[in-house]
Amino acid sequence: MKLLFLNGVNLNMTGKREKGVYGTQTLDDINAEIKAFVGDRAECEFYQSNLEGEICTKIHTSDADGIILNAGAFTHYSYAIRDAIASVSTPVIEVHMSNVHAREEFRSKSVISEVCRGIVVGFGKKSYILAAESFLL
Ligand code: DQA
Repeated sequence: MKLLFLNGVNLNMTGKREKGVYGTQTLDDINAEIKAFVGDRAECEFYQSNLEGEICTKIHTSDADGIILNAGAFTHYSYAIRDAIASVSTPVIEVHMSNVHAREEFRSKSVISEVCRGIVVGFGKKSYILAAESFLL
């Protein structure tokens, strides 16, 4: 079993930006915790890009059995990422660290949810872990 943890725009700033919302750990710190949690139950690949097209290409070319995707702000408007998810058979779980429904109104709208297998929002770094668990159960 292989899992791809795919992070989109601005997630490289985790630990530096809006610490009250996203915490003080860097994405590398969080990825290390995810890897430790998954252990030998699955191979983990981690990828982050600020470029929409690179996220699409990663979805197209991934050999993972499941993708855990935090698309960041792309979530709210990227029809390109939505179509990339719809174009592959790999199941994708949408995750958000913050509760996007308790924030600005524009964050309540996701254009990718409809083509994702499931959604985990609002549990901080645990959102990634809960999504991973759904593949491992
Ligand atoms: C986010 C929520 C998005 O609205 C925001 O643009 C992000 C992070 C989250 O993990 O809570 O960059 O996806």
